[in-house]
Amino acid sequence: MVFEMDELNSIKLTYDRDYSLRYDVISQDPTMNHAQYFSHVTTLFEKNLWGTGDVLDIGCGTGLLKEMLLGNFQFTGVDLSKDMLKIAASRGYRVYEGAVQESLYEFKENQFDFVFAMSLLYHINDVSEIIERFRAIARKAVIFTLEDIPECFEKATWETHQFHIYNHFSLSFDNAHLDMTLGGWQSPSRKENYVPRMRLVCLTAE
Ligand SMILES: C[S@@+](CC[C@H](N)C(=O)[O-])C[C@H]1O[C@@H](n2cnc3c(N)ncnc32)[C@H](O)[C@@H]1O
Repeated sequence: MVFEMDELNSIKLTYDRDYSLRYDVISQDPTMNHAQYFSHVTTLFEKNLWGTGDVLDIGCGTGLLKEMLLGNFQFTGVDLSKDMLKIAASRGYRVYEGAVQESLYEFKENQFDFVFAMSLLYHINDVSEIIERFRAIARKAVIFTLEDIPECFEKATWETHQFHIYNHFSLSFDNAHLDMTLGGWQSPSRKENYVPRMRLVCLTAE
């Protein structure tokens, strides 16, 4: 799989330097993306009686998922940003530093019960193969978000941070277990103008 090393370095630097220390505080803002999906993920797990298992959290950031999933779960996280990962590790995550484009192939098929990728896929250009790989690794379910990124936001991100972001909002999935559109979330860096919608998708093994 081809990916741009310079851009990965820019993403890593941005999260290390600009976000890691304030990420958990920003995430408590009710206009942010976490507030949009956390309660739906909790309900999804309650409805399916998913209360235990091994979780692989791709682009785990500071490991906020662990605050949300109640039950007996073990968390493994992959992320580019070592400073985000330090916080995830302090929450009890087992952590792997690296790009999802490579790390995913280090995990075995059916190794985890659940694979999550929350607010991650807009960082990746070609996601089809990556989602297929999520499905191979997950025994029970794959849960991810797709953000409806406007073109002007893509342009501004490139100019400010020197990495691209991508809109995968219109991808379709056969037989999704859950596929819902959520209200907008606000970017912490471009708060005033941009309120993209997002989708929360869950694909199950059966
Ligand atoms: C918006 S944050 C989301 C963090 C977490 N999933 C959450 O919901 O709080 C995106 C995270 O993805 C990571 N990331 C971006 N591109 C990545 C890549 N190609 N491989 C691994 N991690 C990546 C960033 O370092 C960052 O921590």
